[in-house]
Amino acid sequence: MGNQWVFGLHLVLLSMFLVSTKYTCLGAQNSTRSCHERERLALLKFKQSVIDDFEVLSSWVGIGCCSWKGVRCDKVNPYLAQLRHLQHLDLSGNNFYGSQIPKFIGFFKQLSNLNLSYAYFGGIIPHHIGNLSNLKVLDLGSNDMLNANDMAWVSGLSSLEHIGLSDVDLSQANNDDMAFYMIPSLTYLSLRGCGVSSSDLGLHLNSCKITPTIEHLNLRSNYFEGQLPHFF
Ligand SMILES: *[C@@H]1O[C@H](CO)[C@@H](O)[C@H](O)[C@H]1NC(C)=O
Ligand SMILES: *[C@@H]1O[C@H](CO)[C@@H](O)[C@H](O)[C@H]1NC(C)=O
Ligand SMILES: *[C@@H]1O[C@H](CO)[C@@H](O)[C@H](O)[C@H]1NC(C)=O
Repeated sequence: MGNQWVFGLHLVLLSMFLVSTKYTCLGAQNSTRSCHERERLALLKFKQSVIDDFEVLSSWVGIGCCSWKGVRCDKVNPYLAQLRHLQHLDLSGNNFYGSQIPKFIGFFKQLSNLNLSYAYFGGIIPHHIGNLSNLKVLDLGSNDMLNANDMAWVSGLSSLEHIGLSDVDLSQANNDDMAFYMIPSLTYLSLRGCGVSSSDLGLHLNSCKITPTIEHLNLRSNYFEGQLPHFF
C-alpha cells in the first residue's frame, strides 16, 4: 500500500493500574507475525521502566512480542519499523508510583502528542523531552511528585502549541520563563499550581519577547505579588 502511516503495532492495555496505554506506532511485521527486535527491545525497556505490581505485563517475555498481552502486530514494511515513528503516546491516568519519565522518550522524534498527565510520575522531568521538535501537545499535568531543575529544554519544542504543567513543581527550576518566549507556536500554557513566583517569571513578562500567539494562559495558585507585568 505504501502508506507509511499505517499503524502497525498497537498496544492497548486494559487493566487495573498499568492501564489505558493508548500506544500506536509504525509496526514491524511481515506476514509471519515475527517480532521486530527493535520494537521488542523498546517494549522491554518500557516494561523495565515501570512498576508492574499487578503483573499486567507478565506475558512480555521471549521473542514473540506479537503474542504478548496487549500487543497487536499488523503487516507493515519491516524497514519502517522503528519506534521513532511513534506519533501519539498517551499514558495518562496510570500509576507509575513516582517513577521517572523514561529518558528514551527523547528518541520518539515523530511524536506530536504526548500525554503523561495524572500518571504519578515523579523525579525530575528528563531534558530529553526537549528533543521532540515535532511535538504539538505536551501534557505533564497533575503529577504531584514531578519537578524540574531547569526548563531550558522547552526551547527545543519548536512546534509546540499546548503545554500543560499544572501541579508540577517548578519552584526550583531555572529558566521556567522560557515557555513564554522560546516557543513561537504556543497557544496554550498552564502553569497552575507550579509554585512559581513573580521573580521567576517577571523579567520576561515585561519584555516584548512574549510569544504573541498565546490564547490560554493559566497561572493560578502560584506566588505572584506586586504589579501585574506589562504583558497583561
Ligand atoms: C517476509 O515475507 C516474505 C514473503 O512473504 C518472506 O520471503 C520473507 O522472508 C519474510 N521476512 C521476514 C523478516 O520474516
Ligand atoms: C491528557 O489526558 C487527560 C486524562 O486522560 C485528559 O484529561 C487531558 O485532557 C489530556 N490532555 C490533552 C492535552 O489532551
Ligand atoms: C536528547 O537530549 C539530551 C539532553 O538534552 C541529550 O543528551 C541527548 O543526546 C538527546 N538525544 C536523544 C535521542 O535523546
